[in-house]
Amino acid sequence: MSLKEIQNNMEYQKVILDQRLRYYEPNGERVYKTFADEISNSLRSNQKSINPKFFYDEKGSNLFEKICALPEYYLTNAEISILNQLDNKISSHLDGDFRLVELGSGSSTKTRILIQILESLQTYVEYIPIDISRILKTSSRILQSDFKRLNITGIIDEYESGLKFLKYYDTKKNLIIFLGSSFGNFDLEDGSKFLSEINSAMKKDDLFLIGLDLVKDKKILECAYNDSEGITAQFNLNILSRINSELGGNFDLQKFRHHAVYNEDQNKIEMYLRSIDRQTISIPQADLTLNLEKDELIHTENSQKFTISNIKQISEKAGFEIKDMWYDEKQYFAMILLSKND
Ligand code: AVI
Repeated sequence: MSLKEIQNNMEYQKVILDQRLRYYEPNGERVYKTFADEISNSLRSNQKSINPKFFYDEKGSNLFEKICALPEYYLTNAEISILNQLDNKISSHLDGDFRLVELGSGSSTKTRILIQILESLQTYVEYIPIDISRILKTSSRILQSDFKRLNITGIIDEYESGLKFLKYYDTKKNLIIFLGSSFGNFDLEDGSKFLSEINSAMKKDDLFLIGLDLVKDKKILECAYNDSEGITAQFNLNILSRINSELGGNFDLQKFRHHAVYNEDQNKIEMYLRSIDRQTISIPQADLTLNLEKDELIHTENSQKFTISNIKQISEKAGFEIKDMWYDEKQYFAMILLSKND
């Protein structure tokens, strides 16, 4: 990309909400593929699929919060337990003041633990959540009222462009965080491209902390994605309600079942919606009539699980050096601190 193109992409409008809360959003028109376009393409393929990023409308985000509190969904508690013991361990890597940059906008326990760690080391903390969703403003308000030495500058944009903007923004050091094993929802190719993009958007002294779910017993993994209260099933089915309400679809949710299995060859949970009958669905705003066979599966999500050697390999390939790695007591989950390998 030429310098001119970078600069054009860097045109953001600054909105100041108060002294400690502001955000940037891209000026003018950015061309994002619309929901209708993506659904229209992915449901026309041989293996029908829906991109998991569409889970997170308001209802889906609330359901995901509920999933995180489920006993079977060990990921959240495992990551929190690592973060709770991180203060002494990470501080040796933080040479000088760091700003906290989060991919996704957290108002959750996890972000708070990291803000507290930085608050104990610095006179004030700057927090920059990067999120395409405007939910960022609400979650930032809550954080701001709870932490008095916190300044928040949100960036309403996609992760890669937000980070690129930050690279040319100033010379402060960033601790970039990507929590919850969200990286596992990328397929391997897109994930490796994403990591390389993060790496090239980082400055020399920036650090990147990523939380990843580890390979473990199939039963534990399948229980985490087939919880006994059926919340994950509701979360999965909600994507069809979203198509109904936003694209005028006529999916009958009673005619689908949640299906999540662990693929041991590829170390990933695969999530699907199974059509229990032969049926035809129309989605007018995606200009689509969808014919489904009995038992046909619509793929909705992969959740990759990692081995230590995978982690080393993908980090190295994207140009990172592993500075440190921490686990929970059961070694279910890992947090990896990375720097640029220059
Ligand atoms: C957001 N992501 C890391 C979750 C996961 O575990 O892959 C999404 C999720 N899907 C079903 N349960 C949770």
